[in-house]
Amino acid sequence: MGFVISCGASCGVSTIRSAVMASAAVKSYSRLSSKRQATRAVESSRLFLGRRSRGSRGVFAPNRQIFTTTSSSEPCYVTTPIYYVNDKPHIGHVYTSTLADVYARFQRSQGRDVRFLTGTDEHGQKVEQSAEKRGIEPQQLADENSAFFRDAMENFGIEFDDFIRTTDPRHKEQVTKFIQQLKDKDFVYLGEFEGWYDEGQEEYVTESTAAEQDFKSAISGKPLVKAKQENYFFRLSAFQDKLEAMFEENPDLVLPKARSNEVLNRIKAGLQDVPISRTSFTWGIPMPDDEEHVIYVWIDALFNYISALQLAEGDESKLAKYWPATVHIMAKEIVWFHAVIWPAVLMALELPLPGRVYAHGFWIRDGKKMSKSLGNFVDLETLTGYCDTYGLDSIRYFLLTQGPIGAIDSNWSDERLYDIYSDELVNTLGNCASRTTSMINKYYKQDGVPSEMDSSGARRQVGEYDWPAITQEATNTCVECVETFDLPGAATTAVGLVGKVDTFISETEPFRLAKDESKKEELAAILYQCMETVRIAGVLLESVMPEKMGQLEEALGTAEIKGTLQERTAWGQLQPGSLVKKVALFPRVDPPTPA
Ligand code: MSP
Repeated sequence: MGFVISCGASCGVSTIRSAVMASAAVKSYSRLSSKRQATRAVESSRLFLGRRSRGSRGVFAPNRQIFTTTSSSEPCYVTTPIYYVNDKPHIGHVYTSTLADVYARFQRSQGRDVRFLTGTDEHGQKVEQSAEKRGIEPQQLADENSAFFRDAMENFGIEFDDFIRTTDPRHKEQVTKFIQQLKDKDFVYLGEFEGWYDEGQEEYVTESTAAEQDFKSAISGKPLVKAKQENYFFRLSAFQDKLEAMFEENPDLVLPKARSNEVLNRIKAGLQDVPISRTSFTWGIPMPDDEEHVIYVWIDALFNYISALQLAEGDESKLAKYWPATVHIMAKEIVWFHAVIWPAVLMALELPLPGRVYAHGFWIRDGKKMSKSLGNFVDLETLTGYCDTYGLDSIRYFLLTQGPIGAIDSNWSDERLYDIYSDELVNTLGNCASRTTSMINKYYKQDGVPSEMDSSGARRQVGEYDWPAITQEATNTCVECVETFDLPGAATTAVGLVGKVDTFISETEPFRLAKDESKKEELAAILYQCMETVRIAGVLLESVMPEKMGQLEEALGTAEIKGTLQERTAWGQLQPGSLVKKVALFPRVDPPTPA
């Protein structure tokens, strides 16, 4: 299905009611008669969302499809923000990357061709200044810190396919080409900016926003400065109507809903052109044909999503099949760049738009935003300490299920970590796996896993528990949850399945049946069904806890069961007669000492 928006007469003539990134007095130095030309260019640019359909002319041809997030036959492209090398990695970065990792692993487990991109954002004034302070070249600082981020991600089990750096030659070359294309199409022009500037954020601030913030940076609290600069501008205002239409026609493009509403309201307040170059420092990619200017870090950074796929190479790109992104994942503070500026740039380049922009909330601590000035980050060392106590997979589970995936922030709490670990992992998942394997070993010794078939060869159902249907439903729910990016829902559905096994054990009391010779068949069926359900829950949880669920598979001797998630969760693959080992997946830990 296609999605083409006709531009109408007002396109390109922005009503400047409130500002977006600049309350600039924009004086166009453009060679072309700017607005009319840009309007024509916008009209000729085609807006299309979603993945190209089979047989289309590739990623550069308009398709006829409104986005669907997934279909298992389509390639899947998942991205995190590229992180600033000026900061040290902390829980926020690990959290976003873990969400992306779980999503990517889950999609891979369904047999999808997945590409998972992460990386580092390395240009800009802050990096230049930090390097200067240390008496080193910005490149050296970027090299050190980028490697630090990369190692951190690997240590936290993030299985990315590509790690892009904005200082990579492959990135820089393509950014130059993309900007040149925008210039050629007259979506970029030389103008003059005068207004407020947040030096720390390297961002222009509108008069009204500056006043609201008491003329201080919303992030660092430092005073805003008055700036007057010649800049290249991107004609964001030309995309006013198209962006509004994009939101109307794709209500789930930006999630959670609260973020989408905020962004749309801000768009409706009126878009202004965006200054996309700087002259006050040199650490960046030069503007094509004008080396006095470097490209604004945000524009430079956004291009990473397509430079990593070599899209500037056109049909030569081997990786073009991954575009458009299935989902860009980030926190809410950068949703504007991803949900407004980025789609407008893509429209200008006539490239398809991402399927989804998911902007989660913040991890906070003691009810306060984590910040450098408060020094209250859950930093990498602290997080590593938690991993030492609870294990990496348990921390992944905790981050995923208790993190700020929706619109609401999550407060970090040691007590909550202990409670979730103890209730859901030790007492539910670990305990159920351990008691089931140990009952099988106790009652069947060398005979291994019993069979659920009765003497006539038919499956024996115990009470109301139709386990093949229950496990199938849980699998379907998990898949649906992942499709809607309800990743905690997927994890808790799988653990809930194990909780059901616990209830089943309490109700059917296999330990009592074991004493009654006449209940032999029933006991066998119950224990088979418990073990098979735990196995299936393990498959569903693999994306969240790959190592622990690998240990479970090892203990059940089911590591040889291959195939897609749907195939591996089909009922009845645990072989009667196979030997299982007792497992202790999650050791008990001491409660945290009160602060
Ligand atoms: N470099 C830009 C992104 C460019 S993407 C084209 C940037 N980098 S950042 O290092 O500041 O990373 C911001 C991202 O880190 C957030 O959007 C979020 O994904 C993650 N988090 C940082 N702090 C966070 C919390 N306190 N809580 C949750 N995630 C947060 O912005």
